[in-house]
Amino acid sequence: LFGPMSNTSMNRDQAQSQSEADQGERTATAEPLPIPELLEDTNPHPDQATFDIVSQNGSKTFVNDVETETMGYNGDYLGPVIRVRRGEEVTINVENQLEDELTTIHWHGLEVDGEADGGPHSGILSGETWSPTFTVDQPAATLWYHPHPEKNTGRQVYKGLAGLLFVEDEVSDQLAIPKTYGENDIPLIVQDKQFNADGRFNYHLAMPDIMTGLQGDTMLVNGSIDPYLEVNQEMIRLRILNGSNASIFELAFDSGITFHQIASDGGFLTEPVEMDQLRLGPSERAEILVDFSQVTKGEVVQLMNRNQSFMTFNVEGQAETAFTVPDSLTTIEPIEPSEAVRTRQFVFQGMGPSVNINGKQFDIDRIDETISLGDTEIWEVSNDSGMGMMGGTVHPFHAHGVQFQILDRDGRAPAPNERGWKDTFIVEPGETVRVIATFNSPGVFMYHCHILEHEDAGMMGQFEVK
Ligand code: C2O
Ligand code: CU
Ligand code: CU
Repeated sequence: LFGPMSNTSMNRDQAQSQSEADQGERTATAEPLPIPELLEDTNPHPDQATFDIVSQNGSKTFVNDVETETMGYNGDYLGPVIRVRRGEEVTINVENQLEDELTTIHWHGLEVDGEADGGPHSGILSGETWSPTFTVDQPAATLWYHPHPEKNTGRQVYKGLAGLLFVEDEVSDQLAIPKTYGENDIPLIVQDKQFNADGRFNYHLAMPDIMTGLQGDTMLVNGSIDPYLEVNQEMIRLRILNGSNASIFELAFDSGITFHQIASDGGFLTEPVEMDQLRLGPSERAEILVDFSQVTKGEVVQLMNRNQSFMTFNVEGQAETAFTVPDSLTTIEPIEPSEAVRTRQFVFQGMGPSVNINGKQFDIDRIDETISLGDTEIWEVSNDSGMGMMGGTVHPFHAHGVQFQILDRDGRAPAPNERGWKDTFIVEPGETVRVIATFNSPGVFMYHCHILEHEDAGMMGQFEVK
């Protein structure tokens, strides 16, 4: 257990006035947490699923009764949850209704062939539809989807294009954990935005955004500022995505409540890890169990990023079902370093517009690394950029089409909550992270920094598995 905790709990009026104080001049009305809809599978066949997604322009009021231009999937901001099962053959029809603008849709964390992955090679012109088909073959996990057009990913995600993708399997079926979507199994897409004085946000890069990526001082959860969720005195499962362009969140509850992390990016951990603070870089996910049965009826619990509260849980009466934290969750076969046929080095370098990996900026016509299908490799990722003058920049490393196991960080074993499947991991300034994976999906894939402004500036390369 680590991290500072204040041991206070507030009643609802105190919480209300505190959150008004946090909002400063702005008038935001606290609203119930919006729950994204579960997207309907229109295919009647039990082993197949078909989904329809539309990328569209929209508008939404966040603060000061002012509408701001947004983008969304099947709506004005963010998108529905796509829920698939292991073994299912899935087709997703993605229509681009964005005005005069190319997009793509990438299934982040999904182990599919390069053709279905939705990276920058799979551009969808305005008015066109792209329909990848793939078979889901990986453990239950909370994944996500977002656009990936070259040099325009940051802007489209910032405007609202992102959604969650759940994989379920026999393990998730059998675990005695909360799984009623929207009731005790709650998705939280956490983002930060910069609102102008007039209440709009736009995507405009100035210093220091070019260095750090676009960070903001207003937190959104599922597109809402400072929302509340009514929960019973029971165990709640939160599926948290850091959906920000560039910010690292340090999440904790105000009232000294600890929680258990049960899943990382690529699925369940072998066993729950008790924590009082969760550090999550851009695009990392964590599933946690929070036990509200220890909270008195009528109390509120704040979810905080560092010292800022950005969401409230209003604890209501008793629940009918009492979940407990399971002793174990799943099995994960460790990939042995001796199985690796080679080690590759990736070095994050440069600052601002010159950010790069191994001295190279992204070139869609260049394959940087070639891997034999089925091989196991160790990737050694280090962060040489932003040292000294700028105090160092953290870079989250992500690769498509594969899930890694973290071997070590500067030679030290990873923290217990990083001992599961990872598709994105933070690399601290000066740090070297060694990871291992078996490359079972053929095709051309991206690896990049998931600070989207760094990715768009060229901190990205391509690997081909064949
Ligand atoms: Cu979340 Cu290359 O992407
Ligand atoms: Cu990805
Ligand atoms: Cu970066």
